[in-house]
Amino acid sequence: MNTAVLGLQWGDEGKAKIIDSIASDFDTIVRFSGGANAGHTVVSDDTKFVFHLVPSGILHPGKKCIIARGVNIDPFTLVEEIEKLERNGIETKNRLFISFSAFLVLPYHKYQDTYQERRRHIGTTRQGIGPSYTDKIDRVGIRMYDLLQPKIMLEKIKFIYNEKKNSFPGIFEMEDIHPEPLVEQIIEASKTIIPLLTDTRVMLLESVENGESVLFEGAQGALLDIDFGTYPYVTSSSCTVGGIFNGTGVPPDLLDRVIGVAKCYTTRVGEGPFPTEITCKKKAERLRERGGEFGSTTGRPRRVGWLDLVALKYACQINGVSELALTKLDVLSGMSSVPVATEYTINGERLTNFPENLHIIRRVTPVYRELAGWNDEELSGISGNVLDYIETIERFTGVPVRFISTGAERDNLIRR
Ligand code: GDP
Ligand code: IMO
Ligand code: MG
Repeated sequence: MNTAVLGLQWGDEGKAKIIDSIASDFDTIVRFSGGANAGHTVVSDDTKFVFHLVPSGILHPGKKCIIARGVNIDPFTLVEEIEKLERNGIETKNRLFISFSAFLVLPYHKYQDTYQERRRHIGTTRQGIGPSYTDKIDRVGIRMYDLLQPKIMLEKIKFIYNEKKNSFPGIFEMEDIHPEPLVEQIIEASKTIIPLLTDTRVMLLESVENGESVLFEGAQGALLDIDFGTYPYVTSSSCTVGGIFNGTGVPPDLLDRVIGVAKCYTTRVGEGPFPTEITCKKKAERLRERGGEFGSTTGRPRRVGWLDLVALKYACQINGVSELALTKLDVLSGMSSVPVATEYTINGERLTNFPENLHIIRRVTPVYRELAGWNDEELSGISGNVLDYIETIERFTGVPVRFISTGAERDNLIRR
């Protein structure tokens, strides 16, 4: 069963934990969107790994891992990540494959991101993601296959560099980068990357024809999607199901199953609307501490709030979610009651569908239902109040909860 694992909120739902827990059932694990803005945490035997570009399945010996064409790759971050894995005794040779067609994120994208962020206040990760996807759409992106033609790459980079200097005269930091030394650095990084380049589309199709199965690892989450998220407070890629097909080149009928991952509460890093955000500073701090809610990529404290069933149902609809994975139930264990938002109101009117309109979503008031809290015993047996909580989510979304995560470790997962 070729399976996707997708985030249903604003990222950091615990996707990597689910990927790692089920990876042994698959032959190949594929990242298809985003870039090093992702921070995917896997805790294995008390060791914590945070992946930014390499698929979270790499810890499973013998599994193939692919970074497909839809991922915008910072070559320097990638080399760093590969070297770190090798230092930890994790082999990437003949296991990690990268698409020839993937676009590069280069230092000028990061400067541009930081420069624009000063005026735009989206709260980006400053990893150069927005500017690199913009260059792709603008038809001035550098692709992995350009690494094979360094002279042509230098000419392209010179051209882009001058355009950017003219468009953003205030990017004084740009003075620190010059095309020639930059290309020298890229060539150095290419020594690690070029041997990994291949036609990953063909590779995926052939492996499926040979009866192998594929696990697609989503990055970010539905509400950060460039089309379906809370625009403009979103990322610049398609992190919903459609991104799999654009981001790999495999046809839609190859996908059998979509696992949507949601935390049993909600978090968000960066700016933008968040209807169920906990506004009481002390309460928010308590939940943030309990849940360890600090960004895996930037270390920023995550904003925290309650589960939003209106948003969750929307995310399930867009992605065609066939199963839910609910994470971090241990974090809420011991609370006397747990609020969940079941609808919104605006100007006295009820709203049951998630509004795709910034002016509305930022003004809605959530309507909460208080569900009884659970204890650790109920959690380990999925009985009593925690079962009520899970069944409420199933009724509301129409999707069965098949995975319940009760801790960061691989084994803290209950399958139903
Ligand atoms: P991702 O980006 O969706 O892969 O999620 P992150 O790795 O950014 O953030 C999830 C965090 O929660 C990580 O620190 C995980 O180790 C941790 N985590 C995942 N599932 C659980 C869980 O069920 N319980 C607890 N306590 N922590 C979890
Ligand atoms: P994973 O895969 C949480 C957020 C940023 C910001 C917005 C735009 O770990 O779930 P960008 O740098 O992408 O231009 O920032 O998107 N963001 C994430 N938030 N988890 C992520 O990835 C994120 N990737 C981007 O915080 O609000
Ligand atoms: Mg994350």
